[in-house]
Amino acid sequence: MKKINVAVLASGRGSNFKALIDAINAGKVNASIKVLITDNPKAGAIVHAQTAGIPVEVLEKERFSTRNDMDKKIKEILDANAIDLVVLAGYMRIIVDKKLLDAYKYKIINIHPSLLPAFKGSMNAQLDAFQYGCKVSGLTIHFVTEDVDGGPIIHQEAVYIGDCKSPEEVSSRILSKEHEAYPRIVDSFSKGKYVVDGRKTTFIPF
Ligand code: GRF
Repeated sequence: MKKINVAVLASGRGSNFKALIDAINAGKVNASIKVLITDNPKAGAIVHAQTAGIPVEVLEKERFSTRNDMDKKIKEILDANAIDLVVLAGYMRIIVDKKLLDAYKYKIINIHPSLLPAFKGSMNAQLDAFQYGCKVSGLTIHFVTEDVDGGPIIHQEAVYIGDCKSPEEVSSRILSKEHEAYPRIVDSFSKGKYVVDGRKTTFIPF
């Protein structure tokens, strides 16, 4: 089975990126990470990439006059690396360029730390769930479209948080599930395809 070429976009500490690297190295994910793209020169993800020998592209927003220009550069990098799947892992910018979104339609995925549509668009969905008094939250892996956190859902997992004493506890409980689920879903793209019909996705194995 052909390995898929993956690009990861991350802005922060990069624990999901690291989990993906580890899962690939353990032979659990049939993928090769060709490039890490980040908008943050201080991102922890850069250190994980360097340790793993993965090329890094730092795209600081100051270098670009518009958001579209930055997304155009991202598309150039994806095209140059023959990327099959773009994995957003804590990427804190919204992809706005229609050409990029169209060219990579249903090839860009994101992970959000809530059961969407709960806390859609939230920058801190774990804190929001804790403050709301939710007993159950979770994670959602979805396709990226122009609707932020609104693309068709690929996978969801519920996480019980009713006994969590702090938002940090909620975050870490969900995060440990993210680290298992995201690599598994990345791997699934090498084993079949997701057919999207409206909001519904169906996995069809090759
Ligand atoms: C995760 O909670 C993920 O769900 C969200 O951003 C966070 C990224 O964490 N999209 P990390 O950088 O992967 O550690």
